[in-house]
Amino acid sequence: MILAATCLFGLEKQLGEEIDALGLKRIETIDGRVLFEGEEKDIPRVNINLRLAERVFIVLGRFHAESFTELFDGTNAIRWEDWIGKFDEFPVTGHSIKSKLTSIPDCQSIVKKAIVDRLSGAYGISWFDETGVKYKVEFFILKDEAMLMIDTSGVALHKRGYRPEAGAAPLRETLAASIALTSRPSEDILFWDPFCGSGTIAIEAAMIARKIAPGLNREFSSMAFPRIDKKLWTLAEEEARGFEIKDSKFEVWASDIDEDILDVTYENALRAGVEDNINIFCADATKIEKPSDRRGSIVCNPPYGERMGDMFEVEQLYRELGRSFKNFEPWHIYVITSCDYFERLYGRRADKTRKLYNGMLPCVFYQFFKPYDPSIHAIRKQFDKNRGFDDKRNFEKNNGFEKKHYDKKPFDKKDHQNYKKPKGTK
Ligand SMILES: C[S@@+](CC[C@H](N)C(=O)[O-])C[C@H]1O[C@@H](n2cnc3c(N)ncnc32)[C@H](O)[C@@H]1O
Repeated sequence: MILAATCLFGLEKQLGEEIDALGLKRIETIDGRVLFEGEEKDIPRVNINLRLAERVFIVLGRFHAESFTELFDGTNAIRWEDWIGKFDEFPVTGHSIKSKLTSIPDCQSIVKKAIVDRLSGAYGISWFDETGVKYKVEFFILKDEAMLMIDTSGVALHKRGYRPEAGAAPLRETLAASIALTSRPSEDILFWDPFCGSGTIAIEAAMIARKIAPGLNREFSSMAFPRIDKKLWTLAEEEARGFEIKDSKFEVWASDIDEDILDVTYENALRAGVEDNINIFCADATKIEKPSDRRGSIVCNPPYGERMGDMFEVEQLYRELGRSFKNFEPWHIYVITSCDYFERLYGRRADKTRKLYNGMLPCVFYQFFKPYDPSIHAIRKQFDKNRGFDDKRNFEKNNGFEKKHYDKKPFDKKDHQNYKKPKGTK
């Protein structure tokens, strides 16, 4: 059986590695999806364990389709009766990219008709009540090649179940897991998110370090498929729990300037079962200090200015971050933001950047892991100036924007202690 795991653009490589780690064989990687071989028993395993996938599909057929006739015939040739029963529900959705068949509603109706026709032949009926198990059928047409699939996840996998509440601009859990994974969380390295909001990055990092599978506290649509024996779900859950590290010393600090959001952070960490690993407190990220004698990483998602706050305030914040994070040398710093000129404000060229998407919003993931070398920085600064990179900064200076003061609560060392857990929680 061929399975397809979909993901946010840019996460395919890490998702492929997760699939390898489950002992499954990858077949192909396309933008936003990884195809691999699997059996029925692997459907619970991948749904429960994959941190970076948005959904897992069973691929029932792939064929060339430039016309509605080809789409109908290709869909009609698939053995839908192997999965969909006489009384089952089979809604159809899909996408078409760079293909001749552009009308999604028309493709939807052709695919539906082709499945109805196929099942009518198989079951000897012409009317389907669709009151039984729900099989969400999805077509994906890329460059005139159609892929017909059944969704096994239901609610998208980024919804782990620990975050019913989030802050104003939360990061998708799958993306948070990807950036946390890049920083290689480990017990001897303190992991600090100083813009924690609802705590997504911190929680995902703790779950990775403790090998807590992301799908253990939720349900999946394929739990209702009779072809997947209930025992397979129990086995997959037991397998996942067997990997959990119960007494990990992995330490995460999660801080934010907004005291009110910290209750949400704590509640989310509690639901995810990682509250013991996370030290939550209120602090201004521009005033934080490196704890002495600790190795660490800062992994954060500061405000973008598009959805929260004013862009000029955000630019000033990024400048201040450059000054404050400099004192964290030789820590590794990881920042995800939609600002594509962040390096110029921050005052340092990243050692590596990765283009990622937070939902539909294009972002850049800036990674600083090499020791800071001011001489290289000076050369680069001159190079940037020659290329006109300083234009925006000069524009701001000439227009008085640099005078704007970023006025936030000063960081107080006494804040830097364990956040008090809300009453009524253990
Ligand atoms: C984009 S949100 C982070 C969202 C988070 N990754 C999540 O998934 O919920 C940015 C956060 O930065 C916080 N913030 C803004 N300015 C700050 C500052 N100077 N110091 C610390 N936190 C700040 C905001 O309160 C907000 O919670």
